[in-house]
Amino acid sequence: MTHQSTQQRATEPSGLPVSFTLKDGRSCTIRETVEDDAAELCEMLPKMHAESPWLNYKPGEFDKTVEQEKQFIREHIKPSAMMLVALVGGKIVATGGVGSPEQIRLSHHAELGLAVLKDFWNVGIGRKMMELLIQWGRDRNLRKLYLRVYDGNDRAMRLYDALGFQHEARLRDDFQRDDGTYADTIIMSRFLI
Ligand SMILES: CC(C)(COP(=O)(O)OP(=O)(O)OC[C@H]1O[C@@H](n2cnc3c(N)ncnc32)[C@H](O)[C@@H]1OP(=O)(O)O)[C@@H](O)C(=O)NCCC(=O)NCCS
Repeated sequence: MTHQSTQQRATEPSGLPVSFTLKDGRSCTIRETVEDDAAELCEMLPKMHAESPWLNYKPGEFDKTVEQEKQFIREHIKPSAMMLVALVGGKIVATGGVGSPEQIRLSHHAELGLAVLKDFWNVGIGRKMMELLIQWGRDRNLRKLYLRVYDGNDRAMRLYDALGFQHEARLRDDFQRDDGTYADTIIMSRFLI
């Protein structure tokens, strides 16, 4: 893969970029993540991690350099993956991603995930991002999408449930809360074909 200043596909995945009006009237654009987003992501992600107890990184744990983040983005610009950012007022306020294993025996499914800055919860960004990630799976004729959500993250589970994801499996004590207690991981999935 070439190292251009703005690493991008020749053609954006279908339906992207998309602009739409949020429930509070502001305008939001969702587009594919590009290498040039790395510096802003390195500033924004620690804030996001500090706002929700349900993300994998503890506050202060994310320590990627801009170069490392660029590398991470480059590695995900490929047919089997897609990373998205949502922008409001020109600032990144949410990230999302989906990816399939490269092995042919596993490539009929993909795992997805997303997170939105707290100031922008509940205005429709999560739902729109999920719809785009699901569309990516449909465009690839994937059989199944799945995600991991920690038991207790009711806000996220309600969204996934509303989008047709069903509880499929439970990994017991998979996640350690900040108080030292554990939560189960729930695998939720949706069959596309
Ligand atoms: C979970 C998360 C991604 C949802 O994103 P969001 O942008 O707030 O979601 P939306 O605004 O699209 O709302 C999703 C739905 O949940 C509903 N909802 C939100 N909060 C709710 C609440 N407290 N009670 C009931 N319903 C609620 C909304 O009404 C909306 O339903 P609708 O689309 O039918 O109107 C976001 O809250 C987040 O990033 N949380 C922290 C990180 C996280 O948990 N990520 C997911 C890890 S699995």
